[in-house]
Amino acid sequence: MATNITWHSNLTHKERASLRKQQGVTVWLTGLSASGKSTIACALEQSILNRGLNSYRLDGDNVRFGLNKDLGFSESDRNENIRRISEVAKLFNDSCCVTVTSFISPYKSDRNLARELHEKDNLPFVEVYIDVPIEIAEKRDPKGLYKKAREGIIKEFTGISAPYEAPENPEIHVKNDSISIEQAAEQIIDYLLEKKYIN
Ligand code: ADX
Repeated sequence: MATNITWHSNLTHKERASLRKQQGVTVWLTGLSASGKSTIACALEQSILNRGLNSYRLDGDNVRFGLNKDLGFSESDRNENIRRISEVAKLFNDSCCVTVTSFISPYKSDRNLARELHEKDNLPFVEVYIDVPIEIAEKRDPKGLYKKAREGIIKEFTGISAPYEAPENPEIHVKNDSISIEQAAEQIIDYLLEKKYIN
């Protein structure tokens, strides 16, 4: 625990957003492995950048190569993974960036913590459930991980030997078993436009 530290205030978020001519928002994608989170996040990031707005993606696999390389997949490591990402997403959001996170984030309490951290500072938070039935995710299995999980080679695999708690009231529910990546990204863009988070 650090002591003797003082928070330094600077511009207000409103002043920064006005100077940047853009507001920040965190778009939090949650869903099973192989549900399409990372692919949709890439399409979304590119679409927003093409509108001339700043956007940045924080991705589960990628972040685990760096910031979170000390974490595995036990419940407590996943809690810490999501806690750190929530704080990082909040900083990006505060810098007026459309921040897109793609993490399984299987526990409701972790996602709620991410939301609370944002909302207590009046930073918008949009939860997006990338929903595919487990049978479809397992059939896709692009990285061969479900097969390894079934064989017991990977322990604590989400949906097989570790829980996934689906969101009950996400702002956006993308049923990603029968639509294209473009349509999924479009559904999210439409929501962001409607709420005037982007223009
Ligand atoms: S989370 O549960 O802590 O949110 P995160 O999104 O960071 O997970 O990482 C998930 C990615 O790690 C998966 O897409 C998959 O490629 C890989 N992975 C490796 N082991 C596991 C596991 N036991 N459960 C889920 N994903 C795993």
